[in-house]
Parts: sequence; structure tokens; C-alpha cells
Amino acid sequence: MPTILMCPPDFYGIEYEINPWMSRSRASDTALARQQWEALRALLTSLGCEIPLLTPAKGLPDLVFTANAALIWRDVAFLSRFRHAARQGETPLDEAWFQQHGLTARSLPEGMNFEGAGDALFCGETLFGGYIIRSDARALQWVAGEIGCRVIPLQLVDTHFYHLDTCFCPISPTAAIWHPPAFDDYAQTAVREHVPELIAVNSHEAARFACNAVVVGRHVVLNTGCPQLEERLSERGFTTHATPLDEFIKAGGSAKCLTLRLDGEDAAQWPAPAAT
Ligand code: ARG
Repeated sequence: MPTILMCPPDFYGIEYEINPWMSRSRASDTALARQQWEALRALLTSLGCEIPLLTPAKGLPDLVFTANAALIWRDVAFLSRFRHAARQGETPLDEAWFQQHGLTARSLPEGMNFEGAGDALFCGETLFGGYIIRSDARALQWVAGEIGCRVIPLQLVDTHFYHLDTCFCPISPTAAIWHPPAFDDYAQTAVREHVPELIAVNSHEAARFACNAVVVGRHVVLNTGCPQLEERLSERGFTTHATPLDEFIKAGGSAKCLTLRLDGEDAAQWPAPAAT
């Protein structure tokens, strides 16, 4: 059964500004955020997912974005080391949750920033990593070294697309959705070289977080306002499910950011553990 970690938005809000979407003068509506989060959870449940919950905590408004808790590989959770102090308090809570639920929580060496599945996504056996805005390239290299997989570090150039999962979304081991202008030229070439089938989203839909989609088998869950991407996914045999997540876009997040797949993404083919 697909298992996806979520965290209820009890203490969600815009309390600081660490990306261009966030403005303390544009507060989120608590009731509406709750409703949108519940609808996302209900949708994923209806697709057959089990949704364990992380307990929300006051003073950690971004804890709802469980994609940033860790990168999951088999039973290992490579914990985030957040770049911004405002989010660093999340990590001990994430670590405790993973430990209590049978995963091995591992920390990166000190001094390396890493923001979990927000910046590290498997497409097939290759780990694609976003760097410079939040995660460090050497953190991605370190994690890939521990796993024993190939890593393709991709430099992100637009602060609106500050995490890889805001501009790149593997949908199968050989296909991904992406927004090319979010990457430098070298990264664009690398993506084209390593992902056989690419679906580019336009700027308008990218700003609706089209790339921040949750893939469950042949189903894709995403924010509303991305009709062109929905059409292109339907042509490829995917069933799309749009659900409004505007309250979370105020913090720079959407469907994918609000979830962390614990049993392996559908697009991931994890390599066998590295010999130690
Ligand atoms: N406000 C959060 C931040 O800037 C949003 C995180 C969104 N998560 C994601 N995986 N893209 O860190």
C-alpha cells in the first residue's frame, strides 16, 4: 500500500519569509488551509494510500511540508539540514517520528545543507538533486555516495523554484514533468540527456506549482489551474486529480511538498545497497 507521511496544518501560517512566495502581509486563512489539506488527504486516501501523521508543533509553521523531512531510501531516512534557522527546529521532530516508526534516521555531516525529498528525487535508479538555493551539491553527492547510486546535481536559477520538487517531477522511471527555465543551461542539458521522456510545463502553470505533483501509480494529484499539464498527462494514460492548494502556495508549497512517500515513489527504482 502506498504510504505517505503528512502533517496536519494546525500551526501552519506565514510567520517568516524564506522564499519569494512568502509575505507576512499575505496571511493564510486557517480554516481554508485546513479544508484544502483535508481534501488532499481524502483524495490520497481514496487512491488507496495510507496516511500516517506527524504531530504538528507550535512555532514550526512549515512542518506541514513533510517532503522536507528527509529523503527516504528503503528503511533509511536521510534527515534534512535546513539552510534557514526558521526551519531547523523541525528536524528533531522528524527524527523522532522516523525512529518511532521503524526507519533508520541518518544525519548528514555538519555544514552540509540538505532539504530532503524537496531537493532529491529518484527517476529510475538515478537520484536527481537540486542545489545552490537550499541544498548543497556536496550534500547530494554525500547522500548518493551512501546509497551507492548515480546522482545528477542540477543547479536551480530562479528563486521562485527554490526546491527541485517545484520544477521537476518524475512520473515513471523514464519520464518527468519539468519547467526548464528553473535550471541553468548545463542542468537543462543533463535532464534532457538522462530522462527519455519530458513534459515541459509553461510559466503560468509552473507558477501554479504544476511540477509539485504527487504520483500514485497512474494517478497524479496536483493543484488546480494546470489544464495543459493535465491534458498532456491524460494523453499518456494518467488520471489527473486537481485539488485547490492556494493557501499553501502562499508559503511556496503545493501537493508534493505536503507529502513524503515512505515506501518509495512510483518513479523510483532504488539501487541495491552499496557494499560497505
Ligand atoms: N515555506 C517552505 C520553505 O520555504 C515551503 C517548503 C515547500 N516544500 C517543498 N518541498 N518544496 O521552506
